[in-house]
Amino acid sequence: MAFSSKPKIAIIIGSTRDSRFAEKPANWVLEQGQKRDDLDFELVDIRDFNLPFFNEVASNAWVPTQDENAVAWQKKLDEFDGYVFVTSEYNRSIPASLKNALDQAYVEWNKKPGAVVSYGSVGGTRAAEHLRTIMIELQMAPVRAGVHIGGSEFMKVSPMGANGPISDIEDAIGASASAMFDGLAWWAEATRHGREQDEKQKEAA
Ligand SMILES: Cc1cc2nc3c(=O)[nH]c(=O)nc-3n(C[C@H](O)[C@H](O)[C@H](O)COP(=O)(O)O)c2cc1C
Repeated sequence: MAFSSKPKIAIIIGSTRDSRFAEKPANWVLEQGQKRDDLDFELVDIRDFNLPFFNEVASNAWVPTQDENAVAWQKKLDEFDGYVFVTSEYNRSIPASLKNALDQAYVEWNKKPGAVVSYGSVGGTRAAEHLRTIMIELQMAPVRAGVHIGGSEFMKVSPMGANGPISDIEDAIGASASAMFDGLAWWAEATRHGREQDEKQKEAA
């Protein structure tokens, strides 16, 4: 069946430190996404939500969340049909800020796709694989194709290297970004349909 609106995708900025590089790839993902006519995109910055470290008695699958900032975060996530996580690699995993933000919701992530844009010396791939495993526990559909900025490409755009614009490495990462968006679009439509069927079954029960 056809939906009247395009799936809404949040581009989540995983690193929250003052001097983060993350905004550069996140803004590039937004620019590329906006060229597509099958998905709508919005940047979502974890920093804006002032999340505490997780301090609830359980996930919101079991007990309603008490912290008002965490509730605001959940409400924001609920607006979307899928997510692109822009993640750095800290000590071979995702930054604590992103892990905490993932833990602060549960039902809002369920049955939606998640794609990964990562960066680091080896493309942030170790963080990306951790993130995909976390997505499984959150009942998400990890998208196979992702963008991984590593090695000499990372040095061309990172402040640790030449600090050029992401457009300098578009030849290297453009095709992966297209494949990532294609996968995201397919899964966002499929899971949106599935969630709607779930709702109908609940109403009929
Ligand atoms: C605490 C910390 C740990 C890091 N660990 C890794 C790592 O395991 N692998 C890697 O490729 N880069 C690592 N780096 C370098 C980051 O890739 C680089 O600093 C990147 O810009 C961090 O992303 P951000 O600026 O968006 O926070 C680490 C950086 C920090 C601050």
